[in-house]
Amino acid sequence: MQEIFKRILPGITPIEKERRELKIIADLLLERINSFAKQFQVKGVLVGSAARDTWISGEHDIDLFILFPETANRKTLETTGLDIARKVLFDADKIEERYAEHPYLHGMMNSYKIDVVPCFNIKDTKNIKSAVDRTPHHNNFVKKYIKTCEKDVRLAKQFLKAAGIYGSELRTHGFSGYLTELLIIHYGSFEALLKASLRWKPCTTIDIKKHATHKHGDPLVVIDPTDPKRNVAAALSLDNMCRFIDIARNFLKNPCTEYFSKPARKLVYQEEIEQLFHRRGTELIGITFHKPCIVEDTLYPQLEKMRNAVEKLLTRHDFRIINSNYIVLNADIYLIFELFETKLPMVKKHIGPPVWLKDNAEKFKAKYHKKSGNLSYIYIKDGKYTLNIQRVYTTPTSLFQSELLTCGLGKHITQIIKQDGFSTLSDHELFAIEHPEFRTFLYHLLTHKQDS
Ligand code: CTP
Ligand code: MG
Repeated sequence: MQEIFKRILPGITPIEKERRELKIIADLLLERINSFAKQFQVKGVLVGSAARDTWISGEHDIDLFILFPETANRKTLETTGLDIARKVLFDADKIEERYAEHPYLHGMMNSYKIDVVPCFNIKDTKNIKSAVDRTPHHNNFVKKYIKTCEKDVRLAKQFLKAAGIYGSELRTHGFSGYLTELLIIHYGSFEALLKASLRWKPCTTIDIKKHATHKHGDPLVVIDPTDPKRNVAAALSLDNMCRFIDIARNFLKNPCTEYFSKPARKLVYQEEIEQLFHRRGTELIGITFHKPCIVEDTLYPQLEKMRNAVEKLLTRHDFRIINSNYIVLNADIYLIFELFETKLPMVKKHIGPPVWLKDNAEKFKAKYHKKSGNLSYIYIKDGKYTLNIQRVYTTPTSLFQSELLTCGLGKHITQIIKQDGFSTLSDHELFAIEHPEFRTFLYHLLTHKQDS
């Protein structure tokens, strides 16, 4: 295994020239922040992986924080912070206002991704006013305890990236950079982390400082050494934790360099998808609508919510689901379901109360006895009154037309669908979408193949 690591490390460790270039830009920007020190009592600090020497060669991400005094008020921090950030990034190629708990600036400068984030300089993390106030404390902790394990963090990050589970954004639900660093600090090396993960199960808890004050119900719990209340792994989903365990198990059995590179995207042809689909004997239904103009961290939870709500709606109306997923493609969103069938018979079995519950039985009989449209007489099955009635929706399309908007979609998705509408797409319409990424997505939806 150490042989494999030796082969991987040169490709992911920044060389001296790359470090120097990053330092020159970071120092320049820090100097710019500090030129406002007297005027606003602020101080610039470099945080994140660039400050801790845990970044991967080629990933040029610089996280700069503007520290305001603990006593500053929030409004000042927001307005002055953003003003300073704009001046710091005045010559950036592109800047964009983004939001965490409060606004910050993101810019591109000579292919470096730069975040300039205002925060409060809080001495004791018990008193933090905003989630980002913890970050400078993370920096101090990692720098103190990482010792000579930076290379292990790089290996772990690269391994996680190749598996598609690196990043705590709500789109990924994976391992954040800080979580990776804490796992390496706790276990001592990447190899030890891999081995230890084989013993993880839901609710495994790591508390480096043994100072937790809260119970967490998350799949993995890693208590923040700088804040006893916080679980650093809160964003990690159960499935991504399990993917890590599974891949670690395979790698330990047969260590090889492939685990550190993303598999090439498979090009999928229309005929290939059609053949595959034909063999499965299922049917597809898609819903498509315009993408609302919101940030990814707001959009993806709403898409997840929509997928769950529509699954419940379909199930409630007897449509049986095998797979579902969504894709954001340029300005449109597609939510696709693979179903047993998209045409149900008119008849629906309706089960009533048990015969021995007299009041309910009478109400049921009063409602359904000789009701027009009944497709059977009332009969008794498993002790319950039962009859066959007409179903309201025999296709998902008619179901969506009437009930999509009321089935519990997120705020912005509801707004955009109310405003611009939505369309449903059949198998053939979906196959006809001439977009390589879309076809790969369909292929993945049906096969769950990782390298596509
Ligand atoms: N941070 C955090 N929780 C998150 C995201 C970020 O606490 N969900 C803090 C961490 O202290 C992190 C810093 O913000 O180190 C910078 O975030 P980011 O750039 O996302 O991570 P890095 O640690 O810099 O890792 P990478 O190498 O991926 O840039
Ligand atoms: Mg970073």
